[in-house]
Amino acid sequence: MTKFTQKTDKPFSGDVIVSPDKSISHRALIFASLANGKSKITNILEGEDVLRTAQALRLMGVEIIKKPNFYEVNGSGLLGLFEPDDILDLGNSGTSTRLLAGLVTPYNFTTFFTGDNSLRKRPMERIFSPILKFGAKIISRQNNFPPFAITGAKNPLPIDFHMDIASAQVKSCILLASLATPGITTIIEPEKCRDHSEIMMNYLGLKLKTEKYQNGLKHRYQGLQEFNARDFTIPNDISSASFFIVATLLVRNSKISLRNVGLNPLRTGIITTLVEMGANISISNQQQINGEEVGDINVEYSKLKAVEVPASRVSSMIDEFPILAIACANANGTSKFIGLNELKTKESNRLLMISQNLEKCGVSTIMTSDSLDISGNFTMPKNIVKISTAMDHRIAMSFLIMGLTLENGLEIDDDEMIKTSFPNFDKILHQAL
Ligand code: S3P
Repeated sequence: MTKFTQKTDKPFSGDVIVSPDKSISHRALIFASLANGKSKITNILEGEDVLRTAQALRLMGVEIIKKPNFYEVNGSGLLGLFEPDDILDLGNSGTSTRLLAGLVTPYNFTTFFTGDNSLRKRPMERIFSPILKFGAKIISRQNNFPPFAITGAKNPLPIDFHMDIASAQVKSCILLASLATPGITTIIEPEKCRDHSEIMMNYLGLKLKTEKYQNGLKHRYQGLQEFNARDFTIPNDISSASFFIVATLLVRNSKISLRNVGLNPLRTGIITTLVEMGANISISNQQQINGEEVGDINVEYSKLKAVEVPASRVSSMIDEFPILAIACANANGTSKFIGLNELKTKESNRLLMISQNLEKCGVSTIMTSDSLDISGNFTMPKNIVKISTAMDHRIAMSFLIMGLTLENGLEIDDDEMIKTSFPNFDKILHQAL
């Protein structure tokens, strides 16, 4: 369905509870599936992507039951998964695909993977190379896009793998494959990226050894460690919070508190960047839950100035460039982002979609193969701006926030994908306004 937003003078105010963290929700379901015993997962994201992970795990024989206030997972134990008797349809979810591909790597059965139009254009070579090294077999298309099939290794071999891109999905794929692989798997991560899998492994008592390695980290894991179930409480998602942080910064007189948001330091690049732009943001009630940093983010309307984001910060805010671009379009001066190659491999080519759609809004941009300059002083469009979302939930939500600054408003072509990560986005948008 199309969706319209328009300049508003009504401020955002009060407490805002955004949806639970997507990355942590996927991982809680997967680790709970391999535990001995029952786990209770509270505040899980019931977004389409996470529900696809749950359904895939059910097809591998794991009992996952939705209770009134939590999800209960009856773990199958480390070696207890079964061959799924149907294709895993992972919809729009790259995280489900890459993590579950790692999960099945050491099980000697065959799993078929597919997804929607967007997922069938996502690169998988990055996970195929470590999976093949473990000894699994893969049948894939020539371009390595889904659909593909994996026959897990009969006698999986531990691997030494040097990652050449900063990707938490690749790292987690390998960590999950190492769980049921005898021997020590080593992963070198040249640049740190989100570590929710590692935090969860520590929380579950699994002995993952991590040390500094040049600018990144080296992880070593001895496979076949059995573990008992533990309960999880999922923090709210900083990536979802970012839409309302920026909305509050842009709409005069707004002031909100986003409650219980995950503040993992490898996810908070967006806060650092917005503060550099002059945003009035503070953190309160900071605490640890299941090993993850959590706190309240307090934001007030602020006048923003342009920013330059260093390449070294990109992985700590990889999903936040679409909404940061909206903040930059409304800031004074020209902002510069560099090191954006990975943005082209997301649910859409986000580098292109940000640039093309901002131009439609009257914002000047300069795009290269991995950088983007955004000029903040835009000419107000005279008509309704029509935005193309390319089936990308974050492009859709970011531009709906951009619409709040446009006199004649903006219409996105489709809001359907928003439910993959943030099912109550629309409700919060209208509740808060
Ligand atoms: C994710 C890692 C990131 C991110 C994605 C979720 C994860 O992808 O963009 O939304 O949960 O591990 P990459 O690992 O491809 O950078």
